[in-house]
Amino acid sequence: MKYKAPRGTFDILPEQVSVWQFIESSAREIFERYNYDEIRTPVFESTDLFARSIGSTTDIVTKEMYTFLDKKGRSLTLRPEETASVVRACLENNLIGSDKITKLYYIGPMFRYERPQAGRFRQFHQIGVEAFGSTDPLIDVEVILLGVDLFKRLGLKGLGVDINSVGCRDCRPAFLQELKKYFKSNIKSMCDDCKKRLEFNPLRILDCKNKICQKFIASAPAPLDSVCDRCRASFEGIIERLKTAGVNFQINNRLVRGLDYYTGMTFEVVSKKLGAQNAVCGGGRYDDLVGDLGGKATPSVGFAIGMERVIEVLKSSNVEIPKGELGVLILTMGEKAASKGFEILSALRNSGISADMDYFNRSIKAKMKAADKIGTRYSLIIGDEELKNQSATVRNMEKGSQEQVPFSGVLSYFRDRGICG
Ligand code: HAM
Repeated sequence: MKYKAPRGTFDILPEQVSVWQFIESSAREIFERYNYDEIRTPVFESTDLFARSIGSTTDIVTKEMYTFLDKKGRSLTLRPEETASVVRACLENNLIGSDKITKLYYIGPMFRYERPQAGRFRQFHQIGVEAFGSTDPLIDVEVILLGVDLFKRLGLKGLGVDINSVGCRDCRPAFLQELKKYFKSNIKSMCDDCKKRLEFNPLRILDCKNKICQKFIASAPAPLDSVCDRCRASFEGIIERLKTAGVNFQINNRLVRGLDYYTGMTFEVVSKKLGAQNAVCGGGRYDDLVGDLGGKATPSVGFAIGMERVIEVLKSSNVEIPKGELGVLILTMGEKAASKGFEILSALRNSGISADMDYFNRSIKAKMKAADKIGTRYSLIIGDEELKNQSATVRNMEKGSQEQVPFSGVLSYFRDRGICG
């Protein structure tokens, strides 16, 4: 085969799609409960939007963006995440007001030019939420609880919430200086990425997975030890309320996120069932972003879930995924029977019953064999005998039992048995 899906991307095939639909419909159900509305934004935006929001020295912006020039020479980028796009859309459409909390969610593909590995793709899918307009720790807790509730609804087990504070513009600069001072004497022995990070983004050193770097990171200062009073009070407020809400969490003072817009609380939901890429969800507060992008300063908090990783955890937890099964498959012999079968097929579909017909010109035996493979709850057979008696042979595929049902009673027969779309 000449053409293949690009590296780091994949097709979601019909037999795999039910798990995606299960996650999406569960998410929509929970979002409705929490009063979040859906927003859909373009998959590409001006490159500058992402560089400004995510941070010009982050890995995402320096290495991972799919950036191209359009025919008029404008630099555009496939969205590597959607928080920046949502803020842009809110500002462009005046969705944020001082008298309300704007609560939004999105579901869709994101694009990052990363080295593909288990749990890491170049096109991947996120489900995310953003809440604009409140500094109340209760909204942080609501956002975290929303994620936890969704994972519960999906039947995921073995998850933990890691939480930290990365400080704000008032307290982070001093902490970054402290970090630089701490790492300076050892930086020669650390990895090349950390050498660069020391200069441009020292906080990210805390997140380095390199074994040699880990040795030095273990006793590095923690952001929480030097946050300002405001960040501390906010973080403690969140912790207290998370305890009251019964959320199982741990403070992880090495949790720094890969995007620069965070201020204060950051969190991740991690799974023991995944390998190196073990975060199924990441988020936090970003109180400066709306202001930085030209809006009125607006406290904000949100998260995004990686759907591919959720599916991995679902698989390893043996969660049963509800599958839509065909209700009735119509099998006919001869032209007249086919016309009658098609008439019944349309009537079934019009009354909301999922139905299909075997259109091949082959024996009833061959059609029955195929019906077994397709997986249908009932097959409805019409041949000469059935036409003569004006009744179909209806076969319950699971039980293997058969009965004659008059053509005129077919609809009520299936309705009585709870077969629907
Ligand atoms: P993020 O941590 O970059 O945050 O991504 C969120 C989640 O997306 C990760 O925890 C992971 O599950 C999934 N993910 C990220 N990159 C990949 C990849 N290459 N392949 C597969 N899955 C991936 C954000 O994107 C922020 N916008 C979250 C946020 C919303 N913060 C505030 N509001």
